[in-house]
Amino acid sequence: MQHICVVGLNWGDEGKGKIVDVLASDVDAVVRYQGGANAGHTVYIGDVRHVLHHIPTGILHGGIQAILGNGMVIEPAKLIEEVESLSEEALSRIWISDRAHVVLPHHGAVERILEEQASRPIGTTLRGIGPAYQDKFGRSGVRMGDLVQPGFVDDVLEARLLERCRVLGVSEQCATEGVQICTQLRDRLGSQVIDTCHLLNEMHATGKKLLFEGAQGCMLDIDFGTYPFVTSSSPSFLGVGTGSGFSPRKIDHVVGVTKAYCTRVGEGPFPSEITGEAADALREAGGEFGTTTGRPRRVGWLDIPMLCYCAALNDIDSFALTKADVLTGRDTVPVVTGYRLGEELLESLPFSVADMEAVEPVVEQWPGWNQVDERAMQPFIERLEAATGIPVSILSTGKRRDEVCIFSPFQVEGEVA
Ligand code: GDP
Ligand code: IMO
Ligand code: MG
Repeated sequence: MQHICVVGLNWGDEGKGKIVDVLASDVDAVVRYQGGANAGHTVYIGDVRHVLHHIPTGILHGGIQAILGNGMVIEPAKLIEEVESLSEEALSRIWISDRAHVVLPHHGAVERILEEQASRPIGTTLRGIGPAYQDKFGRSGVRMGDLVQPGFVDDVLEARLLERCRVLGVSEQCATEGVQICTQLRDRLGSQVIDTCHLLNEMHATGKKLLFEGAQGCMLDIDFGTYPFVTSSSPSFLGVGTGSGFSPRKIDHVVGVTKAYCTRVGEGPFPSEITGEAADALREAGGEFGTTTGRPRRVGWLDIPMLCYCAALNDIDSFALTKADVLTGRDTVPVVTGYRLGEELLESLPFSVADMEAVEPVVEQWPGWNQVDERAMQPFIERLEAATGIPVSILSTGKRRDEVCIFSPFQVEGEVA
């Protein structure tokens, strides 16, 4: 197997960072293809916590190249901060696409106004992600490659940003701040800005192994998620091609990551959501507080129709099941297997937000486990595999790197393939 892609199958925070870290021990490069500092990917090496927002978590393994693809939007101050938390040696392994867009101060300013004035806010991470993608698709964006063009930051950028500030009706101070932060980004990371599409294809041609790391999750996908309560990019596997310039046809295996239950941070439909004391207990047990914003995550049960929808869209080959340890000790585990909308029994989520919010989940009790290992969890895993038709290849049993069971096709004679 040469190339793997890891994607989230819920509303983000499934534990993608940890799964990528587990699989990264045997690859040559890890690649992000969308999103930006809205992502927060956590890895525990021993008891030391590492959180990355732009840089793929595989960077934590020595010798691996970390590539920030063209589909990303880069927030200069955040990326610089992230780089400072790593070693100078690690910096030499980070490559940023010249076509990735820059998140600028006016994006944050616009987003704050939109969220404050909306009759129903989305509950975004307020990292300027939506407005940055709006500028990209409105053909008014600034790209990483622009920053390293001679004279661009010093002579051209301010006028460009002032024009955007005037059009968008935000303070012209944003333009001044934009030039300052872009100058810092160019000076600190300009030498790492390259044509990453060329690099990826060259690595493929020379037999190198690539691992693609999705951010967010399929239910936050701009096209396929619970629109408009979504992010502004394509986190699903379908986004890999446009977000990296690497043909998805070359990717051999797609791993879909799901928790053994479900969470969502921000607003929007969540059919399997639970509230009250049971929810508080699950949130505490799972440490369900946002990695990027610290917000309490909404919690609910594993949702099989949603999982099947995401698995099909992402053409999943196997599941990575995370946070199984959080549910240890229950005789049974509630799982949503369908929805009722009035008299109608649905097998998949309806189109409109109103209907998605109106559905009543059909809950079944599946076998629980008293300890978190593959044997004790076998009945649950078999039930999941039968309901979805997709095998579990990775079982994450704790937050640390070594708390994991790895099955076919990633296990070869006791080693990660
Ligand atoms: P990501 O955005 O998908 O990478 O996920 P986050 O890092 O935002 O959130 C997942 C959280 O769960 C992090 O705090 C991880 O350290 C933690 N985590 C990942 N896998 C497991 C697991 O199997 N068990 C437990 N208890 N925690 C886990
Ligand atoms: P990772 O990669 C969880 C959510 C926000 C909000 C919606 C839109 O860590 O899984 P945005 O700032 O993207 O415009 O917000 O998407 N959201 C995430 N939720 N994990 C994430 O990333 C998220 N990135 C965005 O809470 O509901
Ligand atoms: Mg996260």
